Parts: sequence; C-alpha cells; structure tokens
Amino acid sequence: MEDLILAPSLLSADFAEMGAALTLLESARADWVHLDVMDNRFVPNLTFGPKMAADLRPRTKLPFDVHLMTVEPESLVEPFAKAGADYITFHVEASVHAQRLCQRIRDLGAIPGAALVPSTPLSAIEELLPFVGLVLVMTVNPGFGGQKLIPQCLEKTARLAAERKRRGLSFHISLDGGVNASTYAACAASGADVFVMGSAFFGAADPGAELASARAAYAAQKRAGA
Ligand code: DX5
Ligand code: ZN
Repeated sequence: MEDLILAPSLLSADFAEMGAALTLLESARADWVHLDVMDNRFVPNLTFGPKMAADLRPRTKLPFDVHLMTVEPESLVEPFAKAGADYITFHVEASVHAQRLCQRIRDLGAIPGAALVPSTPLSAIEELLPFVGLVLVMTVNPGFGGQKLIPQCLEKTARLAAERKRRGLSFHISLDGGVNASTYAACAASGADVFVMGSAFFGAADPGAELASARAAYAAQKRAGA
C-alpha cells in the first residue's frame, strides 16, 4: 500500500505569516508544502512568485510542490527551480510543447508535473504520461480555495489510475480542490495518492488531527479495496 502524501496549500494561510504557516505544517506532520502560483491571467487571482519560495526554502526541509496556474509556464520554471522547488507542475492547457517543458524541469533538477482543469480530458496528457512525475487533477476550477469538489473529476482520476497501472508507470496522482472530511473516502477510492488541502487544513481547529483523519480515511479505503 502506498502511503498517502498530504500537501497543505499555503493559499489558505495568512499571507502575513508564511513562516508560521510552515511551522504549523511541520507540527501537523504534513508531507509536502503546496505553493499555488497564480498570475491573474490563467486564473482570476494573483498570489506570489519565486521570491516567496526562495525566502521560505531555508525554513523547512519539506518538499516544495509548486503548482503554476499561469500562462507561459516556460518562463517560470527556472526561477522556481532555483528557488528550491522539488516538484514543478504546470497546466497542460497553458503549454504547447509540454514534453519539452517536462525535460527542461528535469534538467533543472526538479520533478515535472502536469495539471488538468476539470474540463480537460485525460486524452490531453496521454502522450505525456511517461515524462511526468506527477499528474495533478484539479477537482475544482482553479483560482480560489474553499470551493466544492466536482465529483465527476474523481471518475477521471480513477481512469488515470487504471491507465497508470496498465502502462506500468509510477507518477503520483494528486487531487487539488475541495479535499476535506466529506470527500476523503471518495478521493482515496479514486486512486489518488496525494491530497492537496487548503481550507480543510488551515480552517481546522486542530490541523494535525485533520491530517491524521485524512490518513485514516485513506488507509480504511485501501483496506476495503484490497
Ligand atoms: C485552487 C488551488 C488549490 C487550493 C485548494 O486553485 O490550486 O491548491 O488551495 O484549496 P481548497 O483545499 O480549499 O479547495
Ligand atoms: Zn494547487
């Protein structure tokens, strides 16, 4: 059984207290830090650039899982790699030469990820799958935290997990958007192994207990499915 990776998103943190947010992730036993980069063009919201990642990098050893919700991701991969990103995920809707971009990310020493918005079919990444280390399936339309998960996106995730198995590939499958106590079981059943959590983590009375309950729901689902 593969362990679940929990990646709280700094999007839901207090932007005036990012260092404290990292301390909270560590004390809650998070696995990765999810950094949502928005450009107000690909999505209707604006967050932060590579300086934020660079400034946070010395504060933690947790892997940085950078999610670029930007047009022209090609121009941002090098600054984020230099800032210490471990995973750099870009939207396939924003990149024509996605295979080349994956190679570029690897050359920079990071692991490439491909993200899909809810309306993008799996067929869009069929040829890309051997080149990625992660596929991020958006379960809401990107741009804002606190939205409700679109259940049909979990069917897409399940088909992706089946395709991964069929082709003997080993990329992570990450779910992003509306992952919370009411959806943990369905998310686990879909075959994903990374949960991004924004509001469910930062809005929890006890974020450590919240992550523990996500892990318990995942383990229960795996046992039931085994
Ligand atoms: C949405 C971002 C997500 C967001 C998820 O565009 O990509 O990472 O932080 O937030 P929640 O978990 O609140 O849906
Ligand atoms: Zn994200």
